[in-house]
Amino acid sequence: MRTHKRAATVERSACAKVILCGEHAVVYGRPAIALPLAGLRARAFIEPSDRSFKIIAPDVGSTVWLWRHSRRTPNPLARAAQATFELLGERPPRATLTVTSDIPVGANLGSGAAVSVAIGRAIAAFFGRQLSPAEASALAYEVEQLHHGSPSGIDNTVVAYEQAVWFVRGEAPELLDVSIVHTLPIVIADTGISTPTRIPVGDVRAAWEQDRFRCEQLFDAIAALVYMARESLERHDLKRLGQMMDVNHVMLQRLGVSCAELDALCDAARAAGALGAKMSGGGRGGNMIALARDADHASALGEALRLAGARRVITNRGAGVAGRWFLAS
Ligand code: MEV
Repeated sequence: MRTHKRAATVERSACAKVILCGEHAVVYGRPAIALPLAGLRARAFIEPSDRSFKIIAPDVGSTVWLWRHSRRTPNPLARAAQATFELLGERPPRATLTVTSDIPVGANLGSGAAVSVAIGRAIAAFFGRQLSPAEASALAYEVEQLHHGSPSGIDNTVVAYEQAVWFVRGEAPELLDVSIVHTLPIVIADTGISTPTRIPVGDVRAAWEQDRFRCEQLFDAIAALVYMARESLERHDLKRLGQMMDVNHVMLQRLGVSCAELDALCDAARAAGALGAKMSGGGRGGNMIALARDADHASALGEALRLAGARRVITNRGAGVAGRWFLAS
């Protein structure tokens, strides 16, 4: 169906994400809240060439070719492109697609979903089309399944919609239009340990198979605090939101997905006056998030986390999730 005009050269991007609360339990049908990090992005750039369609990712030293009759590939970059061609009813053009990203890889910040969405948007734009958030989310979900067998869909959803989401697996995402979300003074700190999400997700699955009753009770407790976190956001009650984050961290420890480094950064954040702190995402490494009292405190908290051993601190100095996030170290 080649009815659309092809663009000469296009660039599109997609944002990173952070889970505010509810990770892991969300895989088992409980709600979770995720936030987009608009200032941290993956980018895909396409330019026409006289050769077969090629994807280059200089950051990870990867080059992959796609032909008209290429089989379904397990390569996530190529799979994102294939899924987009299938969705559009197009064939791989003679062009080169280059992917770059500011989002740390393997840090639970949605790097994989952001790269897939950026690729999907760029290919669609190359054919003069635009993906809806639901289409971008669906294609990124397909790629997420390569990363771990049973993704809930929260990562691809928040990245594709680029808005705070209340997410329940299998239901349409609810976009959280709560003004305080835009000025939430969050600091994100990286343990520097890169653990693929499928490992803690697989371990939780094994624990659930061994003792469903205990795990379901923990998931229910997490669901209850996620509802309270939402209510706290709606009431602009940061103190209570922080308490919910602390409780969520304890639940995640009980599920066995935290680690000494994440615990130490959460303790350091609380010692530096954070209203709450928790690991975020898959766990066993990656990032934690801390809630500061305000913008000035967010800067001090970032410094305290760096001194406590964070390999990287991501902050927007309290400018809110829609603000410009940057790597402070
Ligand atoms: C990963 O960002 C969040 C997890 O709950 C996995 C998922 O929801 O697919 C750990």
